[in-house]
Amino acid sequence: MTSDEGWLAAMWPFVRAWLPSAPARVLEIGCGPLGGFVPALSRGGYDAVGVDPEAPEGPGYHRVQFERYQSPQPVDCVVACTSLHHVGDLDLVLDLVGAALVPDGAVVVVEWAWERFDEATARWCFARLAPPEPASEPAWLHRRREDWAAAGQPWDACCQAWATHEGLHTGRAITRALDARFDRRLWTYGPYFFADLLDTTEADEQAAIDAGQIHPDDRHPVRRHAALKRSLPARHPRGLPAAGRFEAGQRQVGRVGLR
Ligand SMILES: C[S@@+](CC[C@H](N)C(=O)[O-])C[C@H]1O[C@@H](n2cnc3c(N)ncnc32)[C@H](O)[C@@H]1O
Repeated sequence: MTSDEGWLAAMWPFVRAWLPSAPARVLEIGCGPLGGFVPALSRGGYDAVGVDPEAPEGPGYHRVQFERYQSPQPVDCVVACTSLHHVGDLDLVLDLVGAALVPDGAVVVVEWAWERFDEATARWCFARLAPPEPASEPAWLHRRREDWAAAGQPWDACCQAWATHEGLHTGRAITRALDARFDRRLWTYGPYFFADLLDTTEADEQAAIDAGQIHPDDRHPVRRHAALKRSLPARHPRGLPAAGRFEAGQRQVGRVGLR
């Protein structure tokens, strides 16, 4: 199993748990070259499409940015797994998510808060990287380690410069933008790096978080799970969903913050 396959397999139980019942229409934003959850969704009886310029060829996939895709009909659920931090205009994308959903549709998001990728976490990850494979492109964590070594800068400055260059949205900005449009049903945090590390399980990373080895100054791990429902109240004049209000979600896995 590749690290990308391992990641998707680890995230699938969370995504599956928050889907509407099959059959239902599900759109995945940024399904990636493996097709993300689309194969599992299709096997599970969903009418699933994956929208991503890097999507595989074939039925069920649209190789285009989500902003340029027009769904033939509203969908019951939108899934986005670590794709939102890459999109260009986050507000536009989330407005379009709201517009693509049926009333009371669901949004299931797994995201990364890169701004929490502090030096302790970076060192913990770099100590667990497999040796680089000479014939292949270095993986993203190998590149971060090489760039840091070459930059001669503090980790935080190096990480910030990389994220700015890549145009990555922070987890904080994604949270704010989601909360402005959808009502929280669940908000949890969890491990993020394990799939890219040698002999490291999700449980190993969680144990390091719990022990304070990762993010010692901030007990929040870096991955965010969110399951949200479209806000039902009136739309604003441009026809886009109005801002929803919510009560604070809980940090612990499995706790639910309901409106
Ligand atoms: C980190 S990968 C995640 C892939 C997969 N969802 C996963 O969890 O393994 C981010 C994906 O988002 C896609 N992406 C970035 N911006 C996008 C956009 N505006 N519309 C659709 N996909 C986008 C990229 O092409 C890439 O495949």
